[in-house]
Amino acid sequence: MNNAEFLIEAIDLSKKFKIKTGFFKTDYVKAVDNASFGIKKGKTLAIIGESGSGKTTLGRTLLRIVEPDCGKIIYNGKDITSIKMKPYRKKMQIIFQNPASALDPKMTAKQIIAEAIGVHKLVKDKKEENEKIANLLNQTGLDIKYAQKYPHEFSKGQQQRITIARALAVEPEFIVCDEPTSALDMSIQSQIINLLMKLQQDKGTAYMFISHDLALVRYISDETAVMYMGSIIEKSTSAEIYSNPAHPYTIDLLNSYSACDKAFNFMQFKSQPHDSAINKSAEQKGCAYAVKCKYAKDICRHIKPTMSQIAINHYSACHLI
Ligand SMILES: Nc1ncnc2c1ncn2[C@@H]1O[C@H](COP(=O)(O)OP(=O)(O)O)[C@@H](O)[C@H]1O
Ligand code: SF4
Ligand SMILES: [Mg+2]
Repeated sequence: MNNAEFLIEAIDLSKKFKIKTGFFKTDYVKAVDNASFGIKKGKTLAIIGESGSGKTTLGRTLLRIVEPDCGKIIYNGKDITSIKMKPYRKKMQIIFQNPASALDPKMTAKQIIAEAIGVHKLVKDKKEENEKIANLLNQTGLDIKYAQKYPHEFSKGQQQRITIARALAVEPEFIVCDEPTSALDMSIQSQIINLLMKLQQDKGTAYMFISHDLALVRYISDETAVMYMGSIIEKSTSAEIYSNPAHPYTIDLLNSYSACDKAFNFMQFKSQPHDSAINKSAEQKGCAYAVKCKYAKDICRHIKPTMSQIAINHYSACHLI
């Protein structure tokens, strides 16, 4: 299926990694298993799930920073799964969790942004380049006087503004935001989120927003997909996911989050410890949540549930629904 209404679409996208499980033993971790979804222009799809559930690999695979094992990526109606990515790199950007590690410490803010502009030959001369950099710094709330400073001279919030300015330099249509605020203080987080939301309003940018901060995701996203051990197990509008979750894992996740919520302790929410790699291995049968699910039946341990529609624009992978 290839849906023309989406800017970017993943169809049955999968990625597994080889891991060592002993001296001479190897196994595979299914980091992403048959993920399908689409994101419309100007909209935000949130990806939530505990640590190790495959969110980062999904984002990177979608941009082909990591090559998928199988499945398809459709961008603006074109299959980009195995073509040269250079023309698409400009359209699709990523913002990482840790801004410091994403910035070259030996380059000034200006050089970092200029490099992105230069790679894609987006200006005709130095004058235009300077104007563009000044514009980007202004747009991301950084004073032009900071242009000659190096990453270590900035606060974390300012560093993240530079990575955003660099991403915006190429005027992308789609950005994967991989936990872009989780390394920042609370007060700075909301500034960065407001900045991203304003850019979306002004430019119609589409986002895949990866987070385990459910309160934040609920506030900023149009749709939410819930991941568990490499699989998308529930997907709907964000309003529906938060008011009417259907999958037992989503319900448990939201309940554990509400408990933190009551204690005004949003940011200290810890995802559940992830299960052993073997549970995620390519050999695994049945529902990955069966070991923890209080509704698990025999069928759950033997047959993997597939996504099915349970209401308008609401999909879930569970034998009981
Ligand atoms: N390069 C890699 N090599 C081996 N395993 C990996 C690699 N990258 C991710 N994984 C594994 O894939 C799974 C998903 O990881 P990741 O996508 O980082 O999850 P998340 O972003 O949800 O925390 C984890 O079990 C992780 O250990
Ligand atoms: S398929 Fe079975 S084990 Fe998995 S979530 Fe549904 S009820 Fe629980
Ligand atoms: Mg991650």
